[in-house]
Amino acid sequence: MSAVHPHAWAAEAIRRIRADGPGLAPTPLKALTMPAAEGVDIRLKDESALPSGSMKYRLVRAMFCHAVTSGEITADTRVFAATGGPVAVAAARFAQLLELPFTAVVPAKTPQEQLDRIVREGGRWQPAEQPPAAVQEETRAVAARSGGYFLDHFADAERAAAAWDGPSVADEIFAQLRSERRPAPEWIVTGAGTGATSATIGRHLRRHGRPTRLAVVDPENSAYFPAWASGCADYATGMPSRIPGIGRPRVEPGFLPGVIDLVIPVPDAASVAAMRWLHDVAGIEAGPAAGTTLWGVCHLVARMRAAGSGGSVVALIGDSAEGYRNTHLSAEWLRARDLDPAPYEAELDRFVRTGDWPTAG
Ligand SMILES: Cc1ncc(COP(=O)(O)O)c(C=O)c1O
Repeated sequence: MSAVHPHAWAAEAIRRIRADGPGLAPTPLKALTMPAAEGVDIRLKDESALPSGSMKYRLVRAMFCHAVTSGEITADTRVFAATGGPVAVAAARFAQLLELPFTAVVPAKTPQEQLDRIVREGGRWQPAEQPPAAVQEETRAVAARSGGYFLDHFADAERAAAAWDGPSVADEIFAQLRSERRPAPEWIVTGAGTGATSATIGRHLRRHGRPTRLAVVDPENSAYFPAWASGCADYATGMPSRIPGIGRPRVEPGFLPGVIDLVIPVPDAASVAAMRWLHDVAGIEAGPAAGTTLWGVCHLVARMRAAGSGGSVVALIGDSAEGYRNTHLSAEWLRARDLDPAPYEAELDRFVRTGDWPTAG
């Protein structure tokens, strides 16, 4: 954008951000059929259909808008992010849209496919010098040295999502359900990374007085389930999650336990089993976090059946299946981590056929 008054630049930047994507078309709400779920409608909200291929698109869009309106991103700001994941891909896209340079400081072992996606969206990346747990602080220092702006998703995504004045993912879900026989689901299910998506949904449920409850699925090593269950807000495991995008070693500021009705801990091998089931049986190509989510959905469906109640469950699936061939879809990778999905595949198969679930009730 050429030299203009800073306010005019900001207004044009916001206009471009809002105009991105295919006219803000809602992401698909797909029906999932399971014989055991008779009486319960399951819908998967496929957020991988968003322009940068993940649900982080919504958060990064809100963060750019917030930083532009707050005067933190201006016409010549260099933008930095502390990840090689979907946040970096979406941030590269919005920086390119605003003609701003973007650099992702990426942890060692970030897969090449992911780095290629950042570059395809017009961004650059540089390897972090610190171990993964210290990349956030390293990036803050790198951005400060160059006078740039650190797009800190763990610190800011939830606040920015609350300030976003366009339709949220929750608005979309309820608008899509309006034409269905059950316009108010019993449960909405999501994972939590920054916590912003669950916070957005929880806020919506209160603002609009919806009877729907919110469940968060949580992988092994994550601090969210123990923090929610114990009420200890600064619980930390210090261990990284093995399910990309969800689960954190500590409770991030965007995780709002007060809006969450239930946190469901899910073993990592069960997440892998459920991801495979989505691919092989349901024909839905999704990543490991979608497996975690499906496991939580089965748990809730079993609970609803045990209580003799019908209804519907909406689950968010956030990333594509791309890039897991050498990790979660590789027998060798699973063996090296002592992860055996076979017993969970058997449980899932039994549930789908008979409705028996080990921990229903
Ligand atoms: C792959 C993936 N990433 C991220 C999230 C949630 O992210 P956040 O808590 O940062 O909004 C989810 C939620 O289900 C997810 O499936």
